[in-house]
Amino acid sequence: MTEQDLVAAPAGVPVLDLDPFSMALLDDPYPYHARLREAGPVVWMPKHGIYVTGRHEQVREVLNDHEAYISSAGVGLANFNKEPPFRPKSLILEADPPDHTRARTVLSRILSPRSVMLIRASFVLEADRLLDELLAAVQAGQVVDGIGQVAEAYPLKVFPDAVGLESQGRENLLLYGDMVFNAVGPRNELLARSAEKVQPVTAWIMAHCQRHMLQAGGFGDLIYQAADAGEISQDEAPMLVRSFLSAGVDTTVNGIGNALWCLASHPEAYAKLHADPGLARTAFEEALRFESAVQTFFRTTSRDVLLAGVPIPAGSKVLASLAAANRDERQWPDPERFDIERRPTGHMAFGSGIHGCVGQVVARLEGELILAALAKRFKRLELAGQPTRRLNNTLRALSSLPLRLTPA
Ligand code: HEM
Repeated sequence: MTEQDLVAAPAGVPVLDLDPFSMALLDDPYPYHARLREAGPVVWMPKHGIYVTGRHEQVREVLNDHEAYISSAGVGLANFNKEPPFRPKSLILEADPPDHTRARTVLSRILSPRSVMLIRASFVLEADRLLDELLAAVQAGQVVDGIGQVAEAYPLKVFPDAVGLESQGRENLLLYGDMVFNAVGPRNELLARSAEKVQPVTAWIMAHCQRHMLQAGGFGDLIYQAADAGEISQDEAPMLVRSFLSAGVDTTVNGIGNALWCLASHPEAYAKLHADPGLARTAFEEALRFESAVQTFFRTTSRDVLLAGVPIPAGSKVLASLAAANRDERQWPDPERFDIERRPTGHMAFGSGIHGCVGQVVARLEGELILAALAKRFKRLELAGQPTRRLNNTLRALSSLPLRLTPA
């Protein structure tokens, strides 16, 4: 198979001549997602020479067949079998079994529901503290920025605390996340802009992955303890701390930010949440389905495969649109409706299969606690102005969300 064969339109596959990473489609991806699902179970996009699927059944199949659709050649557009990765590969995200299994076993144990129970009390305390501060600001007549004052403030406090990171310089985590998720896409202006900051931010991140920078007993230290026990090597430990720092902040920031945006633009949903803050968990889950914080991931075919009867040659890049799958009318009744009483079990916002998000228990905890704390204190949550979008090749993100909050 030559390079040309991969770029030429393959016979029998619907062609969609769009760039999913163009600024217009990133700004408003939903009409494109509808076209993608409508065009077929798998389509060919000549702009990047990739196969793309946006239907729930096929996205699920791609993510669950880790032998045919591998991650070690990168989970972005770049094929690491042909070009070097922009940073040393992740030992978990960009790995296949058996290497993946070793790293995953350690991180799954550290982030298991049982160990996350131990951090719950401190996460509750911080949610209450932050929302009490917000209530005081609102009572003093302030309009609130849902992104800066809630969606960023909370995860930037609780998650690095749990990892055992010092308080100084945590804004680097957002810059790093922005860069890592831009790198999933092509070398467009978004990637170029975040790459300008790559050197100092990467240096800060890697310095904070070292053992002496991490507090004893935190998630980071637990990774080093796994290295002491011989489960992973001492060289692998900082790389796994890096995985927490890459994937654990910008994702939850945007998960929470998008949930606030969904609730502010659906007042009837917020009224239900205020009446019953016990709905906070499903409200967060529904926001992840409706406005998926992580929109896409890629795989690379390890051999010739058939996806929904469509032949895909070995070595092809396949984009799985998690966000499109999450609004697939074949899977969800009335998918365009944001309904916090829906139980969206099986959504793809955390992925699926062996790479399904290892931090989802922590992410759900943060989402649930912050939404419940909000719902208890405020009877109304309304937009006080136009939100501003922060475009990213993979993340669905806002940079500001002006909110008018009415105390209960
Ligand atoms: C709302 C918040 C979050 C979202 C939407 C999210 C989304 C995802 C998705 C879609 C994947 C699958 C990647 C793939 O299939 O290639 C993933 C994997 C991963 N996530 Fe999350 N994530 C979130 C929060 C977190 C947190 C809080 C952590 C850290 C504690 C974390 C750490 C990871 C890691 C290490 C992986 C790689 C797992 C593997 O390859 O086995 N994530 N996440």
